Parts: sequence; structure tokens; C-alpha cells
Amino acid sequence: MIKDHLQADSAIKQEQDSDFSKMIDASLSRRRLLQGGATAMGLFLAANPMAQAIAASSHPESKLLGFRKIPTSTADTFVVPEGYIARPMISWGDPILSGAPAFNENGSQPSSAQAGQFGDNTDGMSFFPLSDDRALLAVNNEYTNYTLLFDHKGKALTADDVKKAQAAHGVSVFEIKRTDIGWEYIKDSSYNRRITANTEMMLTGPAAGHDLFKTSADRSGKKVLGTFNNCANGETPWGTYLTCEENFNGYFAKPEGEQDPHQKRYGIKSDSKYQWHQFDSRFDVSKEPNEPNRHGWVVEIDPMDPTSTPLKRTALGRFKHENAAVTVADNGHVVVYLGDDERGEHIYKFVSKNKYNASDKAGNRNLLEEGTLFVARFNAKEGEVKGTGEWIELTYGKNSLTRENGFNSQAEVMIFAREAATVVGATTMDRPEWVAVHPETKTVCCTLTNNKHRGRKDNQPVGGPNPRAANNYGQIVRWKESNGDNTSSTFKWDLFLVAGNPTVHKDFYAGSANITDENMFNSPDGLGFDQAGRLWIMTDGKYSNEGDFAGMGNNQVLVADPNTGEVRRFATGPIACELTGLTFSPDQRTVFIGVQHPGEKDQPSHFPAGGNRKPRSTIMVVQRKDGGIIGT
Ligand code: FEO
Ligand code: CA
Ligand code: CA
Repeated sequence: MIKDHLQADSAIKQEQDSDFSKMIDASLSRRRLLQGGATAMGLFLAANPMAQAIAASSHPESKLLGFRKIPTSTADTFVVPEGYIARPMISWGDPILSGAPAFNENGSQPSSAQAGQFGDNTDGMSFFPLSDDRALLAVNNEYTNYTLLFDHKGKALTADDVKKAQAAHGVSVFEIKRTDIGWEYIKDSSYNRRITANTEMMLTGPAAGHDLFKTSADRSGKKVLGTFNNCANGETPWGTYLTCEENFNGYFAKPEGEQDPHQKRYGIKSDSKYQWHQFDSRFDVSKEPNEPNRHGWVVEIDPMDPTSTPLKRTALGRFKHENAAVTVADNGHVVVYLGDDERGEHIYKFVSKNKYNASDKAGNRNLLEEGTLFVARFNAKEGEVKGTGEWIELTYGKNSLTRENGFNSQAEVMIFAREAATVVGATTMDRPEWVAVHPETKTVCCTLTNNKHRGRKDNQPVGGPNPRAANNYGQIVRWKESNGDNTSSTFKWDLFLVAGNPTVHKDFYAGSANITDENMFNSPDGLGFDQAGRLWIMTDGKYSNEGDFAGMGNNQVLVADPNTGEVRRFATGPIACELTGLTFSPDQRTVFIGVQHPGEKDQPSHFPAGGNRKPRSTIMVVQRKDGGIIGT
């Protein structure tokens, strides 16, 4: 019985492997086709090996994508395909805790109000079922915009204003219930919780208690206040939420010229637009040099217990974390893929020491405590955008991570993971954003959102998965681990798509062959697979609709068929927003989509209330009018 099962498994793996090579083959035969020069684009591609290489396979009509594509939009609305409805569920400032006041858009509410309200700028989110018609949503609140948060627009900051800004950050957990009109949030549920920049949490794992974590308020080096700039997310098979700390550096300040090399690599500057350091000395790096080391981690939260202590998992490394894509490998080890969102930074993978055991809830709770962190090196022949890759171990004492190279312990390798990645020769990427793992094939995709420095800095050469200089548009890299084993140390990769503008450019800035004037976009960011394997892509790009971005309109959600390469536009957001945060109900009949920073930089948005109202970051509930499965 067991043997049959294993044979069936390996048959599936072989099929998956050959699918992946078929895809690369298809791309090659497309190249041959193009060398025939059937169209003007084809002629160009024929003359340009780079462009040939990034041309995707031709895409016969997708069986996975069943909805009608929508055009681009510059309107101040959220648009979904014919047959779908979208409704705002919760906006920044809506009360979620008992006793919290209703939102007042005049910006004069004190920190105590914000502490009981939904935080600002919704980002990554996960759905945790309680029953068929009740669930918890855990949602990141990435940052806040002072021109909207305060009546004085940030120009007359007080100590309570800093507390209010800190309370607008972090994570919101709240109960939702299914009603006649779809899912709605419950204001006073006992599950509801705000986690902010001041919530007490613990540092755990190999770096916990290290001297580099000790501050005047915490001699243990283990107890830390808060999480902020929580970008994207992940969820574990044991029911916890992972929130990822991204641009934590922007909240700290240290005078120019006084930053040490570690602080420079992590982007500590002389000033902070948030100005917390003026009122809260732990953000003044001259006074608390170790406080920045306590941020830039993945934090694990048990959403089911509102009294639980969030745990910062130092085994997953410190960098500007985008999301945490979790999968259980066939051998039972837990694998977490991680991107570091900065031009020229890296893609990482954590493999747990212990194995996942579905019947050991308590044991699973420690799986992210101990394991091995790896960083990716992508290999390619010149001019090719496919190749092989390796995962290089970031373990103290191995791969030159020694005293001679500035590392004295595993704790230091984790705290300065970026510098360890440089020592081992990791590939510098075009801003790794979200990673997603296909639910069946375990193929992995990562959005590389854009990189204006590519080809202009020595450590960021053009080539491999980063094939264009001054990359305005971004691409999605895809890899398959050797033998279908997500704990493997080698992989094969290619580019699933290269974004571009075929109406403006005829060279490789037009994008890959699966990008057309009907589905073009820039700066892919949010990414996720649904249960059927559709790839959902969310954009955080330029919305000027001019020049290189002409015809692209507002930020968008697109859905791709990973088998055919077809990409179709599913949603468009309001003015000057980014669409980020995506989660499905388990029946796949509802998708929750986040609208972040509508009207940023004083652009004229009044989303979602309209009229003359202040724009507010909002989670949309999207369903089909006939109640059917989303995307089909
Ligand atoms: Fe918060 Fe890299 O986006
Ligand atoms: Ca993002
Ligand atoms: Ca982005």
C-alpha cells in the first residue's frame, strides 16, 4: 500500500518535471518560430537573442480562466469583471474593539481611538476558518500617511500623535461572518485584536538573547515592543499567521556619517519621515544602537488566542521581508520562501530542522524555531533567461561565514543575513516581492517588481533572471526544485512573464509574448495561487498612464494560467492606490482584495465613500453574482 503510494507520487513528480521542461521547450520552439519572422515583433525578436529568450510560449485559450477580461481604468472606483460584485468590507479607522469610537475623518482622534480601530494601509492578509460561516481575518497594516492621519497633516506632531501613528501600524485580527450580502466583520468579537508598534513580543530562535538585541529597556535581548511596516504575510498549516517586517529602517534615525556598515546596508538614515525618534527614544539610534536589530523579522502570531505573545522568528533571517510562502515538502520538512524587497537584494529559503506532524499541534508550533536558511544563486548562459540554480547555506562556519569575514556566531549570520548573502555570492535580484508556491506542482514563482539600478551598479549586472537594464516594468521568475523536492539544494528556473508595454516599445521592454495591449501592467508585487492553480498577480506600479506607462491606467489584479501563460485582467483599483493583500474563503467563492493608499501624494481619490470624503485604505469582498467559484 505504502509502496504503491510512493510510486504514484514519483509518477506525479516525473510528470511535473516533464511539464516544466515542456514549458521551457515550448518557449524554445516559440523562439524558433519567431526566427521565421512572421510579424514586426517577430522580426525584432529574431534579431535580438535576449528578446527571443524572454518570449513566452504562445497561449491557446486557457481552460483555467473563465471570466471576461476588463479594460484598464483611470476612474476612482474598484472594477471587477461582468458577473462579479465588489463591496467594501472594512476601511482604515473602522472600530474593531469594544468601546472604540467610530472613525472621524477630521484627523483629530487621539491614539486611544486608533488603538481600537482597524489600522491603516491594509496589506497581506489570511483567512482562518472558525466554521462554515465564521472566520478570522488577520491583516497587516503596513504604514500610515500623515497627511490623512492628522488634522495638521503631520506638521505639528505631538507625543500622542506618535502613539497614534504607532497604533495605525501592525496587524489587525477580527472576526468575520457570512451574511446575505457576503462576508461582514463583527465589531465586538472576543477574537478581535490590535497588534501595534507597541505590543510586547518575544525574539526566539538562534539570535534570541544576543548582545546585539540588548537595549536599555530590555537587558534580556529577548523582549521587544512591536512590529511595524508589516508588508505581506504567510500562513502555516498549523493555523498561525506570519507577518513580515519590511521597511523597518525608515522609522529610525542616526546622524549622517555616523552609521556603521551594518546600519548602512540596512538603510538607517539621518532622518525619518515618521519622526518617532523625536518623541520615543528607542527610535533614536544614537541612544539605542541595538533597537533596529530587533526589527526586520518574520513574526508568528496565533490568531485564535488574542492573549498570545507574537514571536519574532530569527531563524528566518533579518532583512526587508516581503512575504513568507510556506509549504510542507514531501519529506515533511517545512519550507518557507522569502523575498528581500530592495534593489539588488536576494531570495531566501528556510528549511525546518523538524518535520511537520498534522497530529502534533504543540510540536508544530516550534517548527520555525530551528532550521537552515539558504539564499539563491541563479546560473544562466549568456543571453538566456532560463537555467539552473543553487541554494547556498547561511550557517556560521560554512561557506566562508567565519570570523575572518566578520561573523562570530549563527546569531550574527541571522541578524546580518544580507551581508552573509553577499559573502556567499547570492544573485542580486530586481526587488524580490511576493513568493507563491503552486498547490499541486510545488513550482515556485516570485515577483521581481522593478529595478532602476539594474545595469547601472557594479553588483547588479544585466543577465539571468534580471535581463533588462533600468527595469521599469518587472518580471516573474519561476523555479522548480530538483526531484520536485522543496528542500532540495538545486533547481531549474525560467521567467514566467516579463512585463512591458508593447504599445510604446518594440524591443524587449515590450515584454514577453504573453503580454499584449489588452493585459499590460507594470511592477508585479502581490502574488498567490488559488486552489485550482490560477496565479493571481497584484500590481504596485506607476499609474501616471503616460510615457512608458501609457495605457496601463490604475493598479490592477491579473490572473494567469501557469500552463498556457495566458494573463487576463481581473480588477482595477481607484486613483493612486496599490492593490495588495489577497485571500480566499475555503470554498473559493469569495476573494478578499486590499486597496492600499488610495489618493496617495494628494491625488484626487475619495475612495471608497465618494463625494468629498477622505480616501481610506479598504478591504474589498469580491464574489460572483451567481455565487460561483471565483475565476472560473
Ligand atoms: Fe510592502 Fe515590497 O512591498
Ligand atoms: Ca508589496
Ligand atoms: Ca511594491
